[in-house]
Amino acid sequence: MIDISASTGHDTPSLEHYWMPFTANRQFKASPRLLAGAEGMFYKDVDGKPVLDSTAGLWCCNAGHGRQKISEAVSRQIRELDYAPSFQMGHPLAFELASRLAEIAPAGLNRIFFTNSGSESVDTALKMALAYHRANGQPTRTRFIGRELGYHGVGFGGISVGGIGNNRRTFSQQLLQGVDHLPHTLDIAKNAFSRGFPAHGLEKAEVLEQLITLHGPENIAAVIVEPMSGSAGVILPPAGYLKRLRDITQKYGILLIFDEVITGFGRVGDAFASQRWGVTPDLMTTAKALNNGAIPMGAVFVSQDVHDACMTGPEELIEFFHGYTYSGHPVAAAAALATLDIYKEEQLFERTKELEGYWEDAVHSLRDLPNVIDIRNIGLVAGVQLAPNAEGPGRRGYKVFEHCFKNGTLVRVTGDIIAMSPPLIVEKQHIDQMINTLADAIKAIG
Ligand SMILES: Cc1ncc(COP(=O)(O)O)c(C=O)c1O
Repeated sequence: MIDISASTGHDTPSLEHYWMPFTANRQFKASPRLLAGAEGMFYKDVDGKPVLDSTAGLWCCNAGHGRQKISEAVSRQIRELDYAPSFQMGHPLAFELASRLAEIAPAGLNRIFFTNSGSESVDTALKMALAYHRANGQPTRTRFIGRELGYHGVGFGGISVGGIGNNRRTFSQQLLQGVDHLPHTLDIAKNAFSRGFPAHGLEKAEVLEQLITLHGPENIAAVIVEPMSGSAGVILPPAGYLKRLRDITQKYGILLIFDEVITGFGRVGDAFASQRWGVTPDLMTTAKALNNGAIPMGAVFVSQDVHDACMTGPEELIEFFHGYTYSGHPVAAAAALATLDIYKEEQLFERTKELEGYWEDAVHSLRDLPNVIDIRNIGLVAGVQLAPNAEGPGRRGYKVFEHCFKNGTLVRVTGDIIAMSPPLIVEKQHIDQMINTLADAIKAIG
């Protein structure tokens, strides 16, 4: 067992009581990986060893770690106003933050609803879609369409529209009624080693037309997709696919929701994938890098049309029966405002564009290594897919992840896919270090 007290000054905690999320708890507790500090591009483990962060935490810390501007804003805010009730009350920072977000939002998505996570953002957006159609006199529009391999968090709404089997199976008898899934867009046979958007697969968007014919547009509320599937292993839409979804949804009065929990805040070049790829949804869900992961916070960006349609009934009555105790929390909002300042002052979204060519070449240099069957990239994201080994799916990927961590680089593993999404402050030498460590791991694990 690691002696945590030596480097942190804390007593060594027992690991037994914490039921960890999305973790092989028994394996982890037998051989834990514990982080004790972070600065810039690096974590520090409990022994004081630096670990290069190639994942921005969990796609959160786009401005890098230990940003003083954020910690100062947080400590100032917690002294000034630690908490304010969010129902029928407000505080200035939440309004200021909403205005700042509206400034950088895709055109027209200028109404902001605060949540505390990506999962809550997704469930909020789905409820808004239902509320919108009901307010518009179309209450039969209740069906949702997600996509296979989509990840939309872990609420019942999110797992229902999500398309990852393991996340749904245990709960399958109680998922939302009336949900269909578009086919996923991963096609290694045709698109392996694509750089950016793959060329093949646009026709998969046409399945939406088929579903609309099957159910009738008057029964469909919204389509929800990630512009790029992150959690399932960096799966990109074929060229033209998102635009096609937009055209079809618009034609039939169906709302389009982009889940930008990962792609938001500079990951693919502009503030949002929607802007970089020129397709504007009706609602957009965000969280994570909104405040650099410093304090839990999410936000749903909503078109003014959808918002205004919901502002019905007597003015003295609540319009939308939904919200969270911590919506627009003052300390989280302070962290977000400081984060937005950093993104702007350091031009971090532009930095993604400057570095994406170098990044792309670096990740594709792994192409000829053993068992690498696909490499996918966009902006400052990459997925390296390995063939499963004889022990079964995910075993090789996990060993590569472990090897990288032991050798000082944190990567993310999903099955046999290694995903990387460094903080946007990354330098070329960090990219080289990540790629070298990953290459050594892939060779060593075999
Ligand atoms: C696209 C997407 N949506 C939703 C979520 C859920 O976010 P959270 O874990 O903050 O609930 C995630 C998390 O990775 C995500 O990638």
